[in-house]
Amino acid sequence: MITVRRIGHATFETPDVEQLVTYYTQVLGLTLVERDADAAYLASTLDHHSVVLRRGDVARCARLAFQLAPDADLGAFAKQLGKHGLATERRHDPQPSISDLVAFHDPKGTEIEVFAERQFAPQRFQQAGIVPNKLGHVAFNVTDIRKVVDFYVQVLGFRESDWMGDFFAFLRCGPDHHTLNFVKGKADKMHHVAFELTDWAHIEAACDLLARRDIPLIWGPGRHGMGHNIYTYHHNPDGQIVELFTELDRINDEALGYFEPRPWHRDRPQRPKVWEPDPAVANLWGVPPPPNFLD
Ligand SMILES: [Fe+2]
Repeated sequence: MITVRRIGHATFETPDVEQLVTYYTQVLGLTLVERDADAAYLASTLDHHSVVLRRGDVARCARLAFQLAPDADLGAFAKQLGKHGLATERRHDPQPSISDLVAFHDPKGTEIEVFAERQFAPQRFQQAGIVPNKLGHVAFNVTDIRKVVDFYVQVLGFRESDWMGDFFAFLRCGPDHHTLNFVKGKADKMHHVAFELTDWAHIEAACDLLARRDIPLIWGPGRHGMGHNIYTYHHNPDGQIVELFTELDRINDEALGYFEPRPWHRDRPQRPKVWEPDPAVANLWGVPPPPNFLD
């Protein structure tokens, strides 16, 4: 099986591209590397872009891009998708730094772009804004969580890191505890997009920067149970939830099957598991989420 290795970038549609470009450059601290009639490309590190903004009537996460191993055969990958009954489209030179990709839709309707190789386009880390290490994960509300999880596991090779009950799932495609997470909801939509920061001091600086910009936190800082990351959440100008996190659990060696030991783990070793539904594990530091946070 040819498996997805990492998240490449997320594409957002927005009624006001300019407003989001300002947010992603001046607040989040990404670099605007390229702009054409269709899209604005924003980068954090080695990738030419981690976030793509396109004009749309409704603010939404329209596409996610994932990378295979650089020597993976995209044709064979398309055949693998075909065996699952998926319609795929091969696109040549679809966007800067990526010359070849396979596009299809996941069961909740998000367009997925998978590529094997992209040209590195190293960015200088910005001097202004929060300046995350990388795009970390994207979370969605989904109406049929089992179907969506099975798709990512069986078709793209994700692994199940943790569940809470049968309504909250965390999937990894590399060492990080989750690159995608899904929570059962009334509609299929993005819940939040998350960027990794360096450490707790970086979180502090980010919170102060958000405060200077009159952007209030809506939850956090706290430490989640599942994934054990320190988190904060705020809204971007489109009303989408943006998470800034650090210290996310990692499985450095799949064969070992447990997360790298940390002092805040309560299981020894901390293995992927199904957590009992309990608001206390949403934040090990005790402050519960605001009402309807998971809606
Ligand atoms: Fe998250």
